[in-house]
Amino acid sequence: MAAAPPSTLATDPTTPPRVFSGIQPSGALHLGNYLGALRNWVALQDDADAVYCVVDLHALTLPKEPGEVARGTLDIARILLAIGLDPANVILFAQSHVHQHAELGWLMQTVASYGELSRMTQFKDKSNRSQNFISASLFTYPALQAADILLYDTDVVPVGDDQRQHIELARDVALRFNSRYGETFVVPEHRIPAAGARVMDLQHPENKMSKSVDSPQGTVNLLDTPKEIEKKVKRAVTDNDGEVRFDVDTKPGVSNLLSILAAATDGDPEQLATQYSQYGPLKADVAAALIALVEPIQARLTELDDATVRQVLDDGAERARSIAGPVMERAKVAIGLLV
Ligand code: TRP
Repeated sequence: MAAAPPSTLATDPTTPPRVFSGIQPSGALHLGNYLGALRNWVALQDDADAVYCVVDLHALTLPKEPGEVARGTLDIARILLAIGLDPANVILFAQSHVHQHAELGWLMQTVASYGELSRMTQFKDKSNRSQNFISASLFTYPALQAADILLYDTDVVPVGDDQRQHIELARDVALRFNSRYGETFVVPEHRIPAAGARVMDLQHPENKMSKSVDSPQGTVNLLDTPKEIEKKVKRAVTDNDGEVRFDVDTKPGVSNLLSILAAATDGDPEQLATQYSQYGPLKADVAAALIALVEPIQARLTELDDATVRQVLDDGAERARSIAGPVMERAKVAIGLLV
């Protein structure tokens, strides 16, 4: 097949880049989600043309109780507003409210290969972990994610490192589609947030803080009370050489506390290490910094009711459809469906 012609959809340097990202409405949000990704969403909203999606269809890839996803969608959207997303500045919507996601998701399954999807480490991990029912959607999940991204002519996708493979797949299917059917999609770029944002489990500092792994004492949730935060940080695993040093390999627990403090206070972990000679005062400062971080978020949460959040999502879906609709048409025309 001939090489694809140079992109005619190259970004105009005078317009801000289109940013797209998504988050699943499952489980409570924790510090790793916030410092690793969501804080970056807020930071990007002023300089980019940002579209953020609560990916409720992706949440269905693992079994859910009836009604659970609707509640989760409102709760996550509410937190996204509380951390500072401004609906006047960004488009915030629920994936299932914009039918083009499911529709382009199917077309992406025709362009992604079975082998490619088989190599996704997240599929291997999640399918190994769930004992009973493994849905076909868990396997095709990255095709839907590619559709999410490509529907908005996305330039940049800010996500954590664990999503690197999925974004590469989105790039690969965009390139393949363009070379089969002609220039249709913008080929997105992956952007991982700056260092210091990798938050590890307080009890198992060799593992990432994660909502899908059962470690309640090692996970600081954004909705934890000051008491809970103090308790979890106080009990965080360190080591017994008693020295405060930033060294991820030999001192994962202490280094994690330093990284968290650095991320919460805009500091540098190595520099912060020089200010402590004992674990106790370090832990006290980490707890205080985290409480200061979550307090304003929790205060804003109490001001947002379901009706307000719903209104934001409805407006967001309408604006999202106005972008996704024409892109979907472009894809159908390019493929040569009867339109
Ligand atoms: N797979 C992502 C996650 O689990 C969520 C997601 C779905 C996403 N669609 C997306 C992220 C599009 C970025 C862009 O975190």
